[in-house]
Amino acid sequence: RGDSGPEAAALVASRVVDVPDFPKPGILFKDLMPLFSDGEVFRQVIDEIVAYHGPDSFDVVAGVEARGFVVAAAIAYATGKGVVPVRKAGKLPRRTHSVSYALEYGEATLEVHEDAFAAGERVLVVDDVLATGGTALAALELVERAGGAVAGFTVLMELSFLDGRARLAPRTVHALLTV
Ligand code: PRP
Ligand code: MG
Repeated sequence: RGDSGPEAAALVASRVVDVPDFPKPGILFKDLMPLFSDGEVFRQVIDEIVAYHGPDSFDVVAGVEARGFVVAAAIAYATGKGVVPVRKAGKLPRRTHSVSYALEYGEATLEVHEDAFAAGERVLVVDDVLATGGTALAALELVERAGGAVAGFTVLMELSFLDGRARLAPRTVHALLTV
């Protein structure tokens, strides 16, 4: 199962705002800030993610800077777990693993502290949107490199026409809304 059913999908869809030509002409930006700022919807979305995976299926939550932090922190608090940040290059103060990946133009790098996870610690990885999958692939590789065991990967919304899911295979993706 890779989704949470029509009710969760409708909930996310109700709070996504399409922004044409952001951050550049021709891109239709999916803005999830209205979901984060609606307390009732945000809580339902977080509860659905926890219910989908089961609170005992992971030990810690990893969130991808920046919008993944919001989701990760809420899941962690709801389940009494901790948060590990997967950050953009140059932000983490101690020794890191780093993975670079291609963007539409140029390159980006994500990092995680080398000692972020105990060996075999089960890590739920979360982000807001899965688009091309470059960000997710880098984050999942980083968790594994740092000794974590990926327990699951969840996004609030998946843009299926960009084929991120195929790029991540055989890893699985849980998306509340697929468009
Ligand atoms: C957006 C989004 C995902 C990523 C998805 O983040 O929040 O993290 O892009 O794109 P991909 O699947 O093609 O890699 P962005 O890099 O814009 O940064 P932000 O979260 O800090 O706003
Ligand atoms: Mg992001």
